[in-house]
Amino acid sequence: MVHILGIESSCDDTGAAVLQCNEEGIEVCSNVVSSQFMIHERYGGVVPELATRAHLQNIVPVVEEALQQANLSGPDLDAIAVTQGPGIMGALLVGVQVAKSLAFSWGTDLIGVNHLEGHIASIFLDEKAPQDFPFVALLVSGGHSCLYRVESYTDVVLLGATHDDAAGEAFEKAAKMMGLPYPGGVKIDKLSKLGDSSAFTFPRPMLHKGLDFSFSGLKTAFRQTLAQSSYKEGEDSQLLYDLCASFQEAVVDVLWTKARRALRQEDCDTIAVIGGVAANSRLRDVFQTEGTKEGYNVCVPNKTYCTDNAAMIACAGYRHWSQGERSNFSLTASTRMPLRGLRGGSNRRVSGNT
Ligand code: KG4
Ligand code: ZN
Repeated sequence: MVHILGIESSCDDTGAAVLQCNEEGIEVCSNVVSSQFMIHERYGGVVPELATRAHLQNIVPVVEEALQQANLSGPDLDAIAVTQGPGIMGALLVGVQVAKSLAFSWGTDLIGVNHLEGHIASIFLDEKAPQDFPFVALLVSGGHSCLYRVESYTDVVLLGATHDDAAGEAFEKAAKMMGLPYPGGVKIDKLSKLGDSSAFTFPRPMLHKGLDFSFSGLKTAFRQTLAQSSYKEGEDSQLLYDLCASFQEAVVDVLWTKARRALRQEDCDTIAVIGGVAANSRLRDVFQTEGTKEGYNVCVPNKTYCTDNAAMIACAGYRHWSQGERSNFSLTASTRMPLRGLRGGSNRRVSGNT
């Protein structure tokens, strides 16, 4: 039995988790996340310096809590897996430095993990994880909108990516235009439940072609519609709910249409949806309903594992650890970091912000 501590601090969530793993399976013993949205709320987005300071403040208590919940002490661990990149430099450095110090003092192994690989690994934390390879994965987060063909735990092929904004970024920008607080995606999701998604027809960019995405045209159309409407910032009205629901519908429609095209093209029968935007209720609903109707196996992890968390980092770390990989104490952080084992589309935006 192997015990792995995961540490995540790439953006605005400080996370620590303990996993108990063996060849038969993975058990999440603890998964602690300290979110910073209260800190960034009034700025309408993540402020790197404030994020870094909050990680510095929270990381040791979060690690302590994760160990306590798992009923373990540091030296009981076999390895520490930490997010190495991509992400905010200061934020990453906090996690990497803490992981190195703990590994040094407890005599445990150290493994640097790519945050995107962590998101892909989050699929395997779910009870309904794909049973076989290959499968198609849609990664939709604040910095990424990518379609992958996943061939093994560590081998992925890029099928499509965004030409401009990521899906989460589009949610954030639309929310900001309406004066909604950060994190905007969560707010739009909530307000959409009260709205009519057919009240406005927004464009579905690049819908009929290929597996790449583009959300900037949708953002511009949304800005124009908003300007022409009678909406006043701060008002709580049916108009606001309808705007949210119609915008959300356009994003989800594009994501499902592209995912289905990828499934057909790759002749796969399983789709996994991961990353913060996979927590969106309408997206989960459409993928489950439409996917099942068309005979696909749909895997959308529990919401806790969609948004940034350390359990997914420990899970990816375990895969590398069990293959004999170890990082040394010169491990550093990278704001841009390509996915290891990635093939295809090197000109696309696959690394960068998380
Ligand atoms: O994966 P994540 O937690 O962090 C990154 O690696 O980026 O994703 C964060 C993104 C944010 O843009 C946030 O607005 C979006 O995920 N998000 C949502 C929802 N929950 C989080 N977007 C739409 N609906 C949600 N329920
Ligand atoms: Zn993320």
